[in-house]
Amino acid sequence: MLRKIEESVNYLRTLLNGEYDAAIILGSGLGGLVNAMDVECKIPYSEIPNFPLSTVKGHSGNLLAGTFGGKRVLVMQGRFHFYEGYPMQQVTFPVRVLAKMGVKTLFVSNAAGGVNKGYFVGDMMVITDHINLFPEHPLRGKNLDEFGERFPTMVDAYSPRLRLIATEQAAKLGYTLRYGVYAGLQGPSYETPAEYHWLRVIGADAVGMSTVPEIIVARHSGIECFGISVITNSTASPKLIRTDHAEVQNVGDEVQPKMTALIKAIISNM
Ligand code: HPA
Repeated sequence: MLRKIEESVNYLRTLLNGEYDAAIILGSGLGGLVNAMDVECKIPYSEIPNFPLSTVKGHSGNLLAGTFGGKRVLVMQGRFHFYEGYPMQQVTFPVRVLAKMGVKTLFVSNAAGGVNKGYFVGDMMVITDHINLFPEHPLRGKNLDEFGERFPTMVDAYSPRLRLIATEQAAKLGYTLRYGVYAGLQGPSYETPAEYHWLRVIGADAVGMSTVPEIIVARHSGIECFGISVITNSTASPKLIRTDHAEVQNVGDEVQPKMTALIKAIISNM
């Protein structure tokens, strides 16, 4: 694993110079952030040694280096999901590479089902905490001591400092933010009405199929994390709810300009 990470980093170092202030992982339908950044280098995942390849429609796979919000950033355009069939170590492999590249701050976005009855389609929810419901843990196996300790804390996994900056910047932009707990499940089926209800009972405000593994691995390495969800479907309707992937992507696309402006403002002021 270490050797593979080093191979990827060595390759990236041949193309990229200097340090990067932050990394951003773009989730479902939020890939448009790349149009607002100044891209200096675009590296297809297929060219990076040991990188997995994205298999989902609507998720392209490139690592972009450039400037965004006045900071040097690495951007993952496309991420890896457990439901695609990768083991967790592969899902989170790029985060290890980002850590070894010296990234100190990670921004993650995703599309999520709104579990909280007060959260509606199109809302942006700052993740304050998560519930890990994945069947495999990304840190399972031999601990990579050079990254972090065996039993890392997950208290303040979602940086209170960055959440505060988000609140201030959203106010300046005139955006309303929601805050809440993101439950991460393996998918790929969406939840049954009974499962959405259960998620509400256990304290989740939103549910999705990503983010949690990446945040765990980033925190293991001491990376400061910020996560934000676009609520793409409400699960609170008393009617039978049918979550639809195309709709999830449409809502993600609609919210993308606001999300981009917010992330840019946070990065500028972090
Ligand atoms: N469940 C799980 N993942 C999701 C959902 C959902 O309702 N919406 C968007 N991603």
